[in-house]
Amino acid sequence: MSERTLSEKIVLVTGGGRGIGAAIAHTLAELQATVIICGRTLPALQETAGKIRASGGQCEAMVCDVTDWNSVAALAARVEQTFGRLDVLVNNAGIGSFDGPLHLMPPAKWDAIFDTNLRGVFYMMRAFVPLMLASGGSDIINISSIASKNALANGAAYAASKWGLNGLSYSVAEELRGKNIRVSVVCPGSVHTEFSPHAGKDPGKMLQAEDVAHAVRMLATQAPRAFASEIVLRPTQKP
Ligand SMILES: NC(=O)c1ccc[n+]([C@@H]2O[C@H](COP(=O)([O-])OP(=O)(O)OC[C@H]3O[C@@H](n4cnc5c(N)ncnc54)[C@H](OP(=O)(O)O)[C@@H]3O)[C@@H](O)[C@H]2O)c1
Repeated sequence: MSERTLSEKIVLVTGGGRGIGAAIAHTLAELQATVIICGRTLPALQETAGKIRASGGQCEAMVCDVTDWNSVAALAARVEQTFGRLDVLVNNAGIGSFDGPLHLMPPAKWDAIFDTNLRGVFYMMRAFVPLMLASGGSDIINISSIASKNALANGAAYAASKWGLNGLSYSVAEELRGKNIRVSVVCPGSVHTEFSPHAGKDPGKMLQAEDVAHAVRMLATQAPRAFASEIVLRPTQKP
């Protein structure tokens, strides 16, 4: 059976300028989607969009800070004006902090983590689900973490934000599954990106950004009748 393409589909990837988000953007562009990538840093977005276009894909860079409602609302207005629809939303933008116990964490750091990893996903769904419903549905894919399944000493706020993201995703999935929108989560273990130092881990054994992109590709190309709601992605060998 030949794999479905995403031809004619409009895809939006938050945090698409580098790391996992850039790999997801490349992969979905290979499936012939028109990909929009957003983030706070225009040069990184432009560089990634340029590489995707140079390899024959379609990609547009748009600046957006997912923690800022006005920025998200402006992005939604621009996407609607430019493309008139949205078929796949990948909520990938995220930050972490793994440098000490919770009782020493500055409150501003807690706020930044939750504003990005949880509030940001709410803002994106709040702004884009109406357009996705009008587009006939498809997929919202939230990039969570294996930290959403485990205790994580010295990363408590990050783990809590990702446990929260899973609860948010499972609940919204029930609100939207009857309306042709699948909401799923991908929960990868450590991935070799700039995200965090991953001290003591062998990069050769770690997951690569492309492995997460492959999981997203599987979710976005399922038959319309099927709904894989969660992928937990581990490296074969412990890094
Ligand atoms: N790497 C891992 O080990 C790992 C494992 C499991 C899950 N994850 C998850 O995977 C996702 C991507 O991680 P990564 O490894 O690719 O990290 P990364 O290389 O640090 O990239 C993070 C991306 O998010 C964007 N971003 C951060 N804050 C943002 C904001 N307020 N608004 C818009 N964009 C924002 C960044 O762009 P700007 O800074 O330009 O805004 C960047 O493009 C995260 O949700 C992370 O929690 C990572």
